[in-house]
Amino acid sequence: MALSRRQFIGRLAMGGVAAGLGFSFLSGVAGSTSTGRSLVGGASLPGLFIQPLRIPPVLAPVRSDGEGDHYEITQRVAIAEILPGLSTTIWGYNGIFPGPTIESRSGRPISVTHTNELPVPTVVHLHGGRTPPEHDGYPSDFVLPVDREVPLPFHAIESGDLSNGQRIHQYPLEQPATTLWYHDHRMDFTGPGVWRGLAGFHIIRDEEEDALGLPAGVRELPLMIVDRSFDGDGSLLYPAIDPTALVEVGVSDGFEAGVLGDVTLVNGVPWPVVGVEGARYRLRFLNAANARRYDLRLDPPPPNGFVQIGTDGGLLAQPVQHDHIEMAPAQRFDVIVDFSGYQPGTKVTLVNDFDSGPMGQVMRFIVGARAEDSSRIPDRLTTIEPLDTTSAGVITRTMRFNSGHLNSNNRDRHSWLINGEPFSPDVAAARPALDSVEIWRLVSDFHHPIHVHLNPFQVLSRGLDGPGPYDIGWKDTIDLRPFENAAIAVRFDGFRGRYVFHCHNLEHEDMAMMSNFVVT
Ligand code: C2O
Ligand code: CU
Ligand code: CU
Repeated sequence: MALSRRQFIGRLAMGGVAAGLGFSFLSGVAGSTSTGRSLVGGASLPGLFIQPLRIPPVLAPVRSDGEGDHYEITQRVAIAEILPGLSTTIWGYNGIFPGPTIESRSGRPISVTHTNELPVPTVVHLHGGRTPPEHDGYPSDFVLPVDREVPLPFHAIESGDLSNGQRIHQYPLEQPATTLWYHDHRMDFTGPGVWRGLAGFHIIRDEEEDALGLPAGVRELPLMIVDRSFDGDGSLLYPAIDPTALVEVGVSDGFEAGVLGDVTLVNGVPWPVVGVEGARYRLRFLNAANARRYDLRLDPPPPNGFVQIGTDGGLLAQPVQHDHIEMAPAQRFDVIVDFSGYQPGTKVTLVNDFDSGPMGQVMRFIVGARAEDSSRIPDRLTTIEPLDTTSAGVITRTMRFNSGHLNSNNRDRHSWLINGEPFSPDVAAARPALDSVEIWRLVSDFHHPIHVHLNPFQVLSRGLDGPGPYDIGWKDTIDLRPFENAAIAVRFDGFRGRYVFHCHNLEHEDMAMMSNFVVT
């Protein structure tokens, strides 16, 4: 049985004026480093740095032709052994978490046919993709379940879209080499969908990057970092109001600020360990957590720290050195670490300085013998033209990200709003012209990692200062901190149509902190 249109409207009707967060609500906010509340699982925690790191398999195309490479992915329920000796039911792309990695070439189009064997509708979004609107994974562009007994979301009925268990996504990939990721984006249910396992890497490569001589092959490690909580029997815990994730929206009371887990997984393995040679490695960090921010540091530190070479939208103009990296949900940091600076046998721990105890630990590298290394880190990586924000006609808009209230089925519930409005597919916060540059001033009340679909942006300022140390390069997600203002410049190019921008704290996103922009 699907939600009726009326129930839905009732849910979205604003219950009075948006209010500030009450004190009881604030008590759920863990420290000041993430907006969210820790969900304590019943499973006993596995030992740290015992299980070997895994690298997600690279997906082979089912065929290649003049139109590009064609992939197929089946979304299904599967059993994984994540905690040693326990079985965990996941929702996985091809039944695995993380899903298989897609490796593509800039400018060579691909198609991905998704088949949905899950008990719920899903939506597939390629995060960071410069994708036509009909393939971007708009929150109501469902891949409906093959099993037709599953209740359909009313939006599918309304749009008459009853595609039978499959959807073909076409990606032109006219964008530079970078680390993207694909994940579930179902309206109101992205948090539980990603939490259960619907996330994978998509790496775009190009000739410009190939020519640089960066570490590659086994010395290039994609690292998807998340937090999760498990019950004593190994099942994933998520405080959803509706455990079937079919009709009732949102997380249960007290978790509206975000769900934080008590187990760290890297590529689906709890606190893994990996042996590395004494050589340079390229680490592609992705924070795929629902709500947790990380402050990554290596202990003991390498002589050159992290040498950042890229971020969300591609390579930086030149390498930048950091001794630690603050990373909000959905952000990517592409870094080089030179393990030849350590004595063979050194145990190097990746720690998270935003937390202590087990959640202050992420994974471990054990450094082996010094090895031959012909990789380089050139002084110039690519060219980044600053967007022209000074010419007449550049539109400046203000987007406010605040907590508020909604009336849901006659219950007053906490919510998250943009410019005072909850998400509605029919309301656009901006209508930028194709190829125009706009300045968006982002104003926030709490931690809100703000993500814009279609085009990456350049951070112009934070408060009265310039961009922060983690804002350089082409970003698609900015880490907005409590009571902060930031300005970003976006050029809307590629395609006309309707896209979303939203908070990438997935609980905030599901609780309506999303809006549309229409490229005209
Ligand atoms: Cu990673 Cu709209 O999302
Ligand atoms: Cu996205
Ligand atoms: Cu938020």
